[in-house]
Amino acid sequence: MRTVYVNGDYVPESEARISVFDRGFLFADAIYEVAAVLDGKLVDFPAHLRRLHRSAGELGMRVDISDDALLDIHRTLVERNGIEQGQVYMQLTRGAADRDFAFDTDAMTPGLVLFTLKKELIDTPVARNGLKVVTIEDLRWGRCDIKTTQLLYPSLAKMQAKASGADDAWLVRDGHIMEGTSNNAFIVTSEGAIITRPLSNGILHGITRATLMEYAATTGVRIEERAFTVAEAHQAAEAFVTSASMFVGPVVSIDGINLSDGKPGPVATQLRQHYIAESRKRLL
Ligand code: PDD
Repeated sequence: MRTVYVNGDYVPESEARISVFDRGFLFADAIYEVAAVLDGKLVDFPAHLRRLHRSAGELGMRVDISDDALLDIHRTLVERNGIEQGQVYMQLTRGAADRDFAFDTDAMTPGLVLFTLKKELIDTPVARNGLKVVTIEDLRWGRCDIKTTQLLYPSLAKMQAKASGADDAWLVRDGHIMEGTSNNAFIVTSEGAIITRPLSNGILHGITRATLMEYAATTGVRIEERAFTVAEAHQAAEAFVTSASMFVGPVVSIDGINLSDGKPGPVATQLRQHYIAESRKRLL
């Protein structure tokens, strides 16, 4: 049985308890991070910590624990649960209080929960076959840059995509692709340039996105950071998504239109290999 971390204690998952008054549970008043584990070590961990602090700052949430202690909890769970490949999920909530829309952050103790997931990340069906995506209207709130646990709409969008025979949805606002339900979206031009929309309050500032763009720049791939339309995506040579749970996931069809002959494209495949090889050099 997995060991999880709940508010200061390492416990078997069946014994883990949180308060029914936790605002994370009642209001999705919580933020989270998902860090990938490769070779039993953490991928891009400092960037995940930076984003956790940014999310907390935007919401006026307290982070009462040090970065070193958070790293230690991550490592302890990876070791105790024997994770060679997979992920660590970390959730910080504002804390527990009688249910009220108003809250007093100082009067609450923040909640902290972490758990691991064992998962193959390298040799995956997505890497071999790619993803089919469909475009769906983006009905999320206006602060998608904050990594909160308000994930109902992306979850419903993914289910809608699956019901239509696809694997995931790309969310659309004003005719432009925002991002995937839980990943950042890229298209590739026939010249091999990669296009992804610039950071804003409308998308999550993906850690994998940032690292991939850094690696791509060093290999001479041209990067255009600009909004792109659904029509442009339909006509792209290739497409892919990035996230801590998939690294680089090739997209082989958008709204039923095949890209790169319905197979993972060469640019996405090469960037995926490059991302994995470089990340392995920087594990923590
Ligand atoms: N999702 N966009 C959204 C809406 C996301 O939820 C995620 C991550 C990303 C990619 O961010 P990163 O590269 O930092 O993982 C983009 C995580 C993996 C999840 O919710 O499971």
